[in-house]
Amino acid sequence: MPLTTSETKEKMKTEAELRQLSLDLIQSNKLLKAEVAERKRVEAEILEVTLAEQRRFGSQLHDGLCQELTAILVFSKALAEKMEKNNTLELAELKKISNMLLYAVDQARDTARGLYPGELEGESLMYSLEELVSRTTGALCVFHCPEPILIDDNNIATHLYRIVQEGISNAIKHGKAKNIEVSLTRNKEIITLSIKDDGIGMMDDLKDSKGIGLKIMKYRAHMMNASFHIKPNLPQGSLLECHLKRPANQRSVV
Ligand SMILES: Nc1ncnc2c1ncn2[C@@H]1O[C@H](COP(=O)(O)OP(=O)(O)O)[C@@H](O)[C@H]1O
Ligand SMILES: [Mg+2]
Repeated sequence: MPLTTSETKEKMKTEAELRQLSLDLIQSNKLLKAEVAERKRVEAEILEVTLAEQRRFGSQLHDGLCQELTAILVFSKALAEKMEKNNTLELAELKKISNMLLYAVDQARDTARGLYPGELEGESLMYSLEELVSRTTGALCVFHCPEPILIDDNNIATHLYRIVQEGISNAIKHGKAKNIEVSLTRNKEIITLSIKDDGIGMMDDLKDSKGIGLKIMKYRAHMMNASFHIKPNLPQGSLLECHLKRPANQRSVV
């Protein structure tokens, strides 16, 4: 039996809706596939970054602290033999050992801080950044934080701290900067972390860079849902900026 006009219209409408539905499904499927691929890529990157960080700390321990301790061991053994043989007390030499140990303890503390900077939530981040900046050697480093910024999420505070650590180290190591300014500021709902240096500036092409610092910083920004970019600082050097939407649980100071 032939369809009535309204039935035909209804049928066409249903067919159109079905077509649209299947187009929507294809589109959702594509998005899902892209999402899965992106997650896989990020997972692989996390693994790479984790391993690279472990290697870095491993070599820091091996090349720094272990060498230092070995030197102290050799020195103290030789001194013990000398004192035994001559039946003397070498006070000046013993003082040398205590100075060497002091230096080794500093190194151990630095490495430990690199591995675990401590709980940084609340006010701690500001104080820890101030401290990090003040014990920076190799360039004049200042911290600018015109108003208190408290971050209640320890993960976010730790990401920000680590970005500053790497940013300062890059400015000195790669940029050969003489002056570095770290700032933590807030404008309404946006918190901005910036690291400005007056060094040689970034090379245009970093495709072949074997470094992992920038990757880790980008990954940290991604984990905080923050933006991350590095641009030339005028008149010279680099400017790293990280904009973070103020987390919902971030307290303001009254
Ligand atoms: N502040 C900076 N000034 C100049 N160049 C920089 C700076 N930060 C990074 N770079 C460049 O980016 C490259 C990659 O940095 P990074 O990923 O941190 O490497 P690494 O892990 O060796 O420190 C460096 O080799 C350097 O060329
Ligand atoms: Mg680096």
